[in-house]
Amino acid sequence: MALLSPGSVTVLVTGGAGYIGSHVVKALGEAGYRVATYDNLSTGHDWAVLYGDLVVGDLEDKGRLREAFHLYRPQAVMHFAAHIMVPESVKNPLKYYRNNTVNAVNLLEVSLDFEVETFIFSSTAAVYGIPREIPIGEGAPLEPINPYGQSKVLVERILADCAQAYPFRYVSLRYFNVGGADSQARIGQVSPEPTHLITRALKTALGQIDRLEIYGTDYPTPDGTCIRDYIQVDDLARAHVLALKYLLAGGQSRVFNCGYGHGYSVREVVEKAKEVTGVDFPVVEGGRREGDPPALVADTGRIRRELDWHPQWDDLGYIIKTAWEWEKRWSTR
Ligand code: UFG
Repeated sequence: MALLSPGSVTVLVTGGAGYIGSHVVKALGEAGYRVATYDNLSTGHDWAVLYGDLVVGDLEDKGRLREAFHLYRPQAVMHFAAHIMVPESVKNPLKYYRNNTVNAVNLLEVSLDFEVETFIFSSTAAVYGIPREIPIGEGAPLEPINPYGQSKVLVERILADCAQAYPFRYVSLRYFNVGGADSQARIGQVSPEPTHLITRALKTALGQIDRLEIYGTDYPTPDGTCIRDYIQVDDLARAHVLALKYLLAGGQSRVFNCGYGHGYSVREVVEKAKEVTGVDFPVVEGGRREGDPPALVADTGRIRRELDWHPQWDDLGYIIKTAWEWEKRWSTR
């Protein structure tokens, strides 16, 4: 397969105005790719799209989607647009199956109609449910414990079937705990009702939340709190660019974990957040949150070996610092 130069490749990015998508659009733009974002702006923001054009549209609207494909003629699609709140998915599963699964089928149909053969999918560590072993390899059983994780497993299965049936190859990237923001604080996570630990800790430091609650201190971990593998969003974005290069060079369909391969406990994150912000914010210990596995840590051997991915920001302090700069800026916007 002839190698394509980045400037001759257009990537259509769904959800490119959202948190992770916007960092990937930035990474693609910086690497010289042409980018078009397709986003309904339900949770994304037009100002977050730093490179290329933005088409405001919904994945439910296949006519609009076809117009975007017709206009940009992408060689590759990256699919981020999805709902991501686990508790909401438990309360309203059909919302998740509709947007995350059915709309992915819409996107695949249009992609195949326009002869797109390379597809990169935002998956999640939630596909593993409560893992039997740590670190978690990509071959671990897929046993999601909530509709959010299930909606992503279904798409992974659909992708595998498409790769069997059509001239089509995909990479599915299973994200562990994504955090941090752009080094210049131009883009970052915006959530009106944040559930993520780092964001909640920083909003507590800013006084926007009264106190940070630690959900459970009786887990079978060294300090009794849950352990997670936190990955800086720009390192994750770089993994997408490498996955794209891999597919454009003829690589076969593949699934990769995205994490650093080591974890931090909730208490360790809280301590680091206090250190980075310089604020000794109030913390209380509470009961367990339903559905939280004690530890989620990625086995990252495959992505390092096969995509030659070398993280640059494997440092919890840097993750929190970039998130902090972003939170301060966002809160005064
Ligand atoms: N936590 C607290 N207090 C808070 C918020 C979180 O103690 O105020 C704890 C959680 O209980 C958990 C850890 O901090 O132990 C991390 O929680 P997050 O909500 O930040 O992230 P999760 O690990 O729950 O979620 C991540 C992704 C999901 C994905 C899931 C896989 O964000 O998309 O991993 O289980 F589904």
